[in-house]
Amino acid sequence: MASINHSHQPIGIFDSGVGGLSVLRAIRHELPNEAILYLGDQAHIPYGPRTKAQIRDFSIEITRFLLDQGAKLIVVACNTASAAALHDLRGLFPDVPFVGMEPAVKPAAETTQTGKVGVLATPTTFTGDLYTSVVERFARDVSLYTSTCPGLVEQIEAGALDAPETHAILEAALHPMLEEGIDTIVMGCTHYPFVIPLIRAITGPDVHTIDPAPAVARQTRHLLEQGKLLNPAENPDPMRFFTSADPENFSAVLSKLLGETGPVEKVTWEEDLTLHKTTTKY
Ligand code: DGL
Repeated sequence: MASINHSHQPIGIFDSGVGGLSVLRAIRHELPNEAILYLGDQAHIPYGPRTKAQIRDFSIEITRFLLDQGAKLIVVACNTASAAALHDLRGLFPDVPFVGMEPAVKPAAETTQTGKVGVLATPTTFTGDLYTSVVERFARDVSLYTSTCPGLVEQIEAGALDAPETHAILEAALHPMLEEGIDTIVMGCTHYPFVIPLIRAITGPDVHTIDPAPAVARQTRHLLEQGKLLNPAENPDPMRFFTSADPENFSAVLSKLLGETGPVEKVTWEEDLTLHKTTTKY
């Protein structure tokens, strides 16, 4: 019996909001032939302060939704959802290739000269087993200085990349680390690469920032190659977006963050936590 060829199907990517667009950007660069479905669960943002069980339930249903829409591989473009749900997702969908995220503590530990590294991530990421495990495996000889940057995700969701409030949040997070002598900062939340220019303005040019998105894109390529799922031909309709909040607002922030647009559809959470497409489209 001939096997079905899934190579023309899209890659599914999700995050709590627009943060995963930093990963989408890297995947578009690495894999220009691939079609992409992107879902931002903005009805539930921020995920950071939520319970692991809640984030896990959202992630399972979003995965199911993206698979129903034809996704051939799922990228969990959210450190928080990866920390809370990746292990269970792999167990529940054993035939689906998943790419997840973990704070890039390993490359930071390899490059720091001062032995002092800053990590910016959400509370759920810091309390998850994934973070504990990367720290134990790769950062035994490095001092880590962490911050959850309260309010930063909301600023980026609003597209306020250079607002005084955004500046103030980053100053408060970075100054104590800089005083300790950090020379490397890990973007442990997919929203944060969008404020790297602001971070650099505060730290100066000698502090190195690590955005894990290019490594995630390379891992996506690797899994597609391994599964013979790479799309051989250019895709005429490369991107479709879904949000559980307001498509018009998503579209505006999308073009601000990526300089690109695409159709944005609304999805709605039902009371039983199932996700459905609605007719609202932007
Ligand atoms: N973008 C998500 C991450 O990478 C977090 C944002 C949120 O708290 O919802 O962790």
